[in-house]
Amino acid sequence: MKEKLVIGNWKMNKTFEQADDLIGDIFDLLKGFHKTTEVVICPPSLYLELATDYADAEDSNFRIGAQNCSEYKNGAYTGEISAEMLSEMEVEFCIVGHSERRKYFGETDETVAKKVDRLIEQNIIPVVCCGEQLEERKAGKHFEIVEKQVKESLFHLPANHFEHVVIAYEPVWAIGTGETATPAQAEEMHAFIRSLVEKQYGADVAYNLYILYGGSCNPKNALELFSQQDVDGGLIGGASLTASDFVAIVEAGDTAVKDN
Ligand code: PGA
Repeated sequence: MKEKLVIGNWKMNKTFEQADDLIGDIFDLLKGFHKTTEVVICPPSLYLELATDYADAEDSNFRIGAQNCSEYKNGAYTGEISAEMLSEMEVEFCIVGHSERRKYFGETDETVAKKVDRLIEQNIIPVVCCGEQLEERKAGKHFEIVEKQVKESLFHLPANHFEHVVIAYEPVWAIGTGETATPAQAEEMHAFIRSLVEKQYGADVAYNLYILYGGSCNPKNALELFSQQDVDGGLIGGASLTASDFVAIVEAGDTAVKDN
């Protein structure tokens, strides 16, 4: 089993002072912890400089991601932040296509595909989210929905670029609801996504791809989820806002690899 990746998505939470405390606590807890799990923290954009300062410090054990970027390169797009600006801030990852952005900000597979291109141009790793709504799962359409999202947002990439993406499967009904997909449901979808990638890009690219699970992942359920063959780690929302919970999830990543 390959090493895990755990990404914390803070969403629109924390004041500057609280953000400083949280990242400082995570820094302290991870310092000197010889983990194998790769850790990425995605704070609100205004705190990226604060976060990259911590990530650059000696003994730092994590990297930094953003939660969104513009689909445009630059220009008259009031309020937007470009991939180039993120790159200048030493941001290494960026979440795109999160279901909250699809729901509240009209993000579509087409805009996600453009954001992916902007990020790859800047050597930032896109973390592309996909996942079905509850009604879609009840109607047995979840595979179809996820297949469309993955193909339309990513399959325009040549293989050498696809190697630099992460996919996060986040069933919408599990995000922030306390209702987690069962390990079997997660594994089934992750294996399906990997099979799509294998058909398009071949077995090596499919094997090396990180497919994260997101949706009410917490210290209690992380180990069982991460022990699934095709679950390469997690995209963590609520539980990433408490340093001890987040670090416990990182530890679950290490344990899953050790035990499998
Ligand atoms: P959650 O959010 O862990 O709070 O369910 C996950 C996400 O939206 O990335």
